[in-house]
Amino acid sequence: MNDAKSTANRDTVTLTDNSTGKSLELPILGGTVGPRAIDVSKLYAETGYFTYDPGFTSTASCDSNITYIDGEVGVLMHRGYLIEDLAENSDFMDVCYLLLHGELPDAKEKTRFEKSITYHTMLHEQMNNFFRGFRRDSHPMAVMVGVVGAMSAFYHDSTDINDPHQRMVASHRLIAKMPTIAAMAYKYSVGQPFVYPRNNLSYAENFLHMMFSVPCEEYQISPVLARAMDRIFILHADHEQNASTSTVRIAGSSNANPFACIAAGIASLWGPAHGGANEAVLQMLNEIGSKDRIPEFIKRAKDKDDPFRLMGFGHRVYKNYDPRAKVMQKSCHEVLGELGIEHDPLLEIAMALEKIALEDDYFVEKKLFPNVDFYSGIILKAMGIPTSMFTVLFAVARTVGWVAQWREMIEDPKQRISRPRQLYHGYAQRDYVPLDKR
Ligand code: ACO
Repeated sequence: MNDAKSTANRDTVTLTDNSTGKSLELPILGGTVGPRAIDVSKLYAETGYFTYDPGFTSTASCDSNITYIDGEVGVLMHRGYLIEDLAENSDFMDVCYLLLHGELPDAKEKTRFEKSITYHTMLHEQMNNFFRGFRRDSHPMAVMVGVVGAMSAFYHDSTDINDPHQRMVASHRLIAKMPTIAAMAYKYSVGQPFVYPRNNLSYAENFLHMMFSVPCEEYQISPVLARAMDRIFILHADHEQNASTSTVRIAGSSNANPFACIAAGIASLWGPAHGGANEAVLQMLNEIGSKDRIPEFIKRAKDKDDPFRLMGFGHRVYKNYDPRAKVMQKSCHEVLGELGIEHDPLLEIAMALEKIALEDDYFVEKKLFPNVDFYSGIILKAMGIPTSMFTVLFAVARTVGWVAQWREMIEDPKQRISRPRQLYHGYAQRDYVPLDKR
């Protein structure tokens, strides 16, 4: 499946079972860059052993050409392009095309792609009824899981995963309709009428329009806010095999339809250890309330007996500053400047907290740096996005990554159903106990 040249070599490692003295040579696989991997796919057949790696900290689950992260130095690249360059010079449509097709589009390709996305933004009218079935106070992520899953009941002509054209149509539909569904979930929760998409607006502008315009007055879209929104979408577009992307791949490995797979990804993203962290950061900053209370919260974060963690800090892969957090911090200042917010108390607490944590031995030793979620909540709040919608925005942006990874998996000739094994600690076989003897 590699279109980038792999530097695969013939190195091996030898595994010796000290109890039997038997040895097995295992091939070492190399990618273009990054750590090499020991191929253990034949291990069980040859030795009867499984590998054991809860949380997959040392496991490469697939081959991929899409995204590369070097967590030690804080590098993120999509198809070889640094995230900082993409955030500075591209727009979200460029990045979507790049993730889906492997190259940045030329002018013609971009126009065609943008048109296709734009013309898929409307939802089947009957889907409006779905929203009305939810309680008004439903969390919008709950609505997203339900409505995106329900797309498989509406778009039958793009659920055949074996047809490349249908796969592409489903991908475009998902990218195009996610902002519409997200904005509808918001409008429903505040009791305002749904706002239809507009074809003369960019992806980010259209989202702001559907979120904030009302039929009774003109809504002016600020170019600075539209650019900031577009950049937030770029920064969240893909992040290799994280929990939600792996969920999408695992769901898709059974040949489930793409809408069902993306609904599974949304469910996984919802958790506060993953996409839900941006919402949790804001709650934490509010709870801290003032700079002088920061030491108390730092102390709690370090206390093994206290479940509290500094939200927006730490990452499974980044053991350095998350490059997205740097761009986000810059964007945050631009947005607050545009909105004339000279002193944002939450931003001030966030910056003081970051400074204290980065100098604290506990965070230094464990290499805990701010991640993308640390600043995104502050920008989104300043833009008027309610906290409960933060993770929804993440889902809108990540949809392109999910569909690109899902398509890559379906098109990989090595693809098989994902079926991990386990180390069983339960009872071995025992005799059944009748009810009167228990
Ligand atoms: N605050 C305090 N301590 C922390 C934090 C934190 N935010 N994050 C990790 N640690 C500590 C752990 O207690 C652990 O200490 P120990 O070795 O003494 O037991 C050590 O650092 C390693 O942490 P793990 O939980 O083992 O690391 P893991 O890779 O499993 O978890 C995670 C990564 C979930 C992101 C974690 O850092 C965390 O919970 N952070 C806060 C939530 C968050 O911001 N999530 C967003 C992630 S980015 C994203 O999804 C977009």
